[in-house]
Amino acid sequence: MEVVTVLGTRPEFTKAFLVSKNLEERGITEYLIHTGQHYDKRLNSDIFSDVDLREPDINLKIGSGTHAEQTGKMLIKLGQVLGERKPKAVIAYGDTNSTLSGTLAATKLGIPVIHIEGGERNYDMRLPEEINRIICDHISRVNCCATKNALKNLKQEGLKNGIWTGDIMLDTFLLYIDKSKSPKQKLPESYILVTMHREENVDNDIRLKRILSEMGKMSIPIVWPMHPRAAKAIKLIKEILPSNIFIIPPVTYSEMLWLEKNCVAVITDSGGVQKEVYWLGKPCTTILSQTHWPQTLIGGWNVAVGDNLSAISKNVLRKPIGEPKAECFGDGNAVKKICDVVEETIGDKRK
Ligand code: UD1
Repeated sequence: MEVVTVLGTRPEFTKAFLVSKNLEERGITEYLIHTGQHYDKRLNSDIFSDVDLREPDINLKIGSGTHAEQTGKMLIKLGQVLGERKPKAVIAYGDTNSTLSGTLAATKLGIPVIHIEGGERNYDMRLPEEINRIICDHISRVNCCATKNALKNLKQEGLKNGIWTGDIMLDTFLLYIDKSKSPKQKLPESYILVTMHREENVDNDIRLKRILSEMGKMSIPIVWPMHPRAAKAIKLIKEILPSNIFIIPPVTYSEMLWLEKNCVAVITDSGGVQKEVYWLGKPCTTILSQTHWPQTLIGGWNVAVGDNLSAISKNVLRKPIGEPKAECFGDGNAVKKICDVVEETIGDKRK
């Protein structure tokens, strides 16, 4: 009785390891396919060892390319491997090109897909992740929704394949927050944490320059663990970074939680970071047109600035109202509920 999990990028590794462990405890065999979308050690093996995710059974080594190249190559190889293994189900996470390829390859072979973190929307079809999400949600057998809002989004699109399990990232966060570790680098005591790597921010020279200039206007130091995509883009535009920005290499999950816990505020375009800092009660400024976690907007804990980039320097240090509500993301038992869905899907009721 085998299930296949498809993953390829940093956030998928931190989402997958608790499910992997729970499946093992239930006696369900899991075959782990790494597409090779992320290949840098710091986005890859360092994260595997930090969260104790076992080595993948196969690495397809697809690497970088245009969306069409990357997705197309993955689709061909995943189709071959899934066709040979014929698993009872495929598990895919979130909204990356690896998620899209795994979901599409499996569905074309008639293998049911359990899509974890389905139903999220930010209604901006310029974002590759939004396209991936919509396709995966529509063709998966089951979408395990992190929030009730995600379930509502699916219903609005006429989909009945959603179930509210709660957010797997909350389970992981609750388990790791007390084990967070400081990165090795010497850091300023008080700082704003920045993460930015999305195509729409870093591959648009004019926007990237404006964002950097906004960061330079702030009197407080900025700590930025930099994704290779952002590092390449900044090198290409030959921009000298404002002196208040401290660049450090990408960090592990435990180190990221430490940086989130100890910062005064956050600027990000990551979906996962928005939630983690909400649970920690830090004001977050999201440099996207919209957040797909609208719950985090209540009380001003999160603000999506879109094209209003001057809001970055003006609003980052605002004081939100009220308390964040982590319960919108479940009760920390998403892993169990998701693995129940896996058992039901493969028709195996052993517990
Ligand atoms: C991908 C996901 C995004 C997720 C992010 C987490 C898609 C469409 N996007 O974005 O949803 O939030 O991962 O990191 O799947 N690169 C390296 N080394 C690596 C990986 C990437 O140098 O190990 C560089 C390459 O130049 C590559 C670029 O980053 O072309 C973009 O990588 P890609 O995997 O396409 O997307 P991410 O920006 O990482």
